[in-house]
Amino acid sequence: MSKKRVLVVTGGGDCPGLNAVIRAVVKRASQTQDWEIWGSYEAYHGIMHDPMEVVLLDGKAVAGIHVRGGTIIRTTSKGSPMAWAVQQKDGSWTTEDRTDFLLERMKSLGIEAVISIGGDGSQRISQALFEKGCQVIGVPKTIDNDLSATDFTFGFQTAVQIATEAMDRLVSTAESHHRAIILEVMGRSAGWIALHTAIAAGAEVCLIPEIPYDINRIVERIESRYKGGRGFANIIVAEGAKAKDGTIFAKKSTEIGYENVRLGGIAYQLSQQLKDAGCSADIRETVLGHIQRGGTPIAFDRILATQFGVKAFEMVLNGEFGKMVTYKNHSITSVSLKEAISEYNVVDTNSFLIQTARGIGISFGD
Ligand code: F6P
Repeated sequence: MSKKRVLVVTGGGDCPGLNAVIRAVVKRASQTQDWEIWGSYEAYHGIMHDPMEVVLLDGKAVAGIHVRGGTIIRTTSKGSPMAWAVQQKDGSWTTEDRTDFLLERMKSLGIEAVISIGGDGSQRISQALFEKGCQVIGVPKTIDNDLSATDFTFGFQTAVQIATEAMDRLVSTAESHHRAIILEVMGRSAGWIALHTAIAAGAEVCLIPEIPYDINRIVERIESRYKGGRGFANIIVAEGAKAKDGTIFAKKSTEIGYENVRLGGIAYQLSQQLKDAGCSADIRETVLGHIQRGGTPIAFDRILATQFGVKAFEMVLNGEFGKMVTYKNHSITSVSLKEAISEYNVVDTNSFLIQTARGIGISFGD
């Protein structure tokens, strides 16, 4: 008897823990007699490609992968099936909706259900496919932790750990040279990575998108560290932070099919703003970038990702489609995809975490 098939896809930016989810789905499915798991390379691109780039994920394929960063089935941030990039005869590019083609391809492969592991953008695609009759389940991933339906996305804690270790290293060089150092971390419109890192590593200044900054307040805080002549200061800035009267430091991507704006580089802008505002400290900048996303996930993320994978497959067994797995109040549960994509999870400026940071003297530049 042929087995029923689940297609697993990983979409959007990679994130530590993706492989742990894939492994958990496959392991849980192998406890049944009648299901098998397939992977499509680079999200749905693999299944839409000619010839199809899909792979049977069995126990051998996933052995030991939970410790590895990245995703064994690769990923992409370009080309949603709803806005597929198509080149015109004159060389220009337009987009077209290819979801019907995708659904036909899945039918021809005998796919009964899809487990889509991805962030906000991927889950919007999941919802669109669900509305067209596809039996899809979402699994939230992103280092940014900006999905409101879940208390944590896997990968976030690993990113915080990496950023904290980077900051610890920068502190020792800042102290030796009496410098002010700026560490820029990722997070898009959410300041979670910056805030957690600032508390864990011990920063004087933490700039997040949720609290626009006044450059003069930051200069005051830095200068206060040099009162006796010598001093040093640690500044963490989220890539999406902005001045009270400024805008986010972002540029439009020229990559075909890449719809997000590209953030990154505010550390250098901030450094110049500090100089212009009269900051007397020597300043150095570090942009941590994709190091935050690469490499092995910490234990917390492996465990969370594994729970998400088991839950997602059990939701397939129970026919709970159109939903996304979540972690809420220490329980693994689920919400509708619609609810999952309805709101971003940004830092609550009245939260105890912000109060904690202020309580230990961290300035938000406000
Ligand atoms: O969403 C995850 C993230 O790492 C953001 O923090 C960052 O702005 C973005 O992805 C970078 O995207 P890319 O890898 O496409 O440059």
